[in-house]
Amino acid sequence: MAVFDPRVIDPNLILSRRVGVIGFGSQGHAHALNLRDSGVEVRIGLYAGSPSRTRAEAMGFEVLPVPEVAGWADVIVLAVPDVPMAAIFSREIAPALRARQALVFIHGFNIRYGTIVAPRDVDVLLVSPKGPGPRLRAEYEAGSGLAALIGLHQDAGGGGLDLALSYAWGIGSARALLLATSFREETETDLFGEQAVLCGGIPELVKAGYDTLVEAGYHPEVAYFECLHEAKLITDLLYERGLAGMRSAISETAAWGGLTAGPKVIGPEARASMRELLRAIQDGSFARDWIAENAAGLPHMQRLEAEEAAHGSGAIGAEIRRELGIDPENEQHRKIASQTDP
Ligand SMILES: NC(=O)c1ccc[n+]([C@@H]2O[C@H](COP(=O)([O-])OP(=O)(O)OC[C@H]3O[C@@H](n4cnc5c(N)ncnc54)[C@H](OP(=O)(O)O)[C@@H]3O)[C@@H](O)[C@H]2O)c1
Repeated sequence: MAVFDPRVIDPNLILSRRVGVIGFGSQGHAHALNLRDSGVEVRIGLYAGSPSRTRAEAMGFEVLPVPEVAGWADVIVLAVPDVPMAAIFSREIAPALRARQALVFIHGFNIRYGTIVAPRDVDVLLVSPKGPGPRLRAEYEAGSGLAALIGLHQDAGGGGLDLALSYAWGIGSARALLLATSFREETETDLFGEQAVLCGGIPELVKAGYDTLVEAGYHPEVAYFECLHEAKLITDLLYERGLAGMRSAISETAAWGGLTAGPKVIGPEARASMRELLRAIQDGSFARDWIAENAAGLPHMQRLEAEEAAHGSGAIGAEIRRELGIDPENEQHRKIASQTDP
């Protein structure tokens, strides 16, 4: 495993640069706050009328139009959503670029699919923390950090990788683990992970399990606990202990039932579907479809979201979470829970 040694990182590389963070959402706010607390000079770039502006200003940041921040900064962080990012870059960032600036991407989508092509004389760096922005901030505040993937697409002056590592130090990720990757690997594995497992596979498994129990006549409340609520308890064990550790922490019956039933649920057909998803990511057809869906105003996404909102687990779940005091209005909880990109 290619792990960077944090002892070789030079914090002065990022401390001596001006950082412009474009966007102040999940990732942008956490990068900006962590960098500032590490001693880096930071300004925020947002469009006129952006709701994020009030939040950034309330946190003491100077907020300016995107082209101004892009012209002012030595390091420009692209913390806007991936599909609109290409147009924001070409209209508002590219015209302001000058030689020896660095672009920091948090996810490799636009570089991997060629929707952003940076001039040859700027560094193009990937610093991708493995988790949502609020968690990146919370770990930093707690004195630890979130592991990050580090990649280099373009090294204009020969110091790109050192700068990426120094940036990772600034956001606190050097306190955890810095892994070497490429824009291609980060993009393809990230998209695959969220589709096949995290945001596609797991929720679909939850819905299918819940439906199976309710259709068979069991109480929806009990089905909710078994198929959704307890998913957190198991994923917490997976996170903390891995597969074997999770098995050893559950009952022997659960371990036996799980080991024998799992491959029946996720059989050859599901594995073939996963390979098909990966092919669509690798050949660019997923990215093309997603860009087209955005251009059309997200009609399919809205339909699918409405269908899922109507799923039986929705109303019963809201009631149970209220009873249990699981508060969706809790700021930290809400933000972490609402991220689409784990
Ligand atoms: N969310 C995650 O957990 C996560 C994890 C890993 C990587 N990433 C990556 O991080 C990057 C940012 O994603 P995100 O989830 O942090 O985005 P986000 O939460 O949706 O925030 C986007 C920010 O960009 C601002 N914005 C939108 N249009 C803009 C424009 N034209 N000019 C300037 N600012 C604009 C938004 O302002 P308004 O809200 O005021 O419109 C908001 O502050 C993406 O590359 C994503 O793939 C995200």
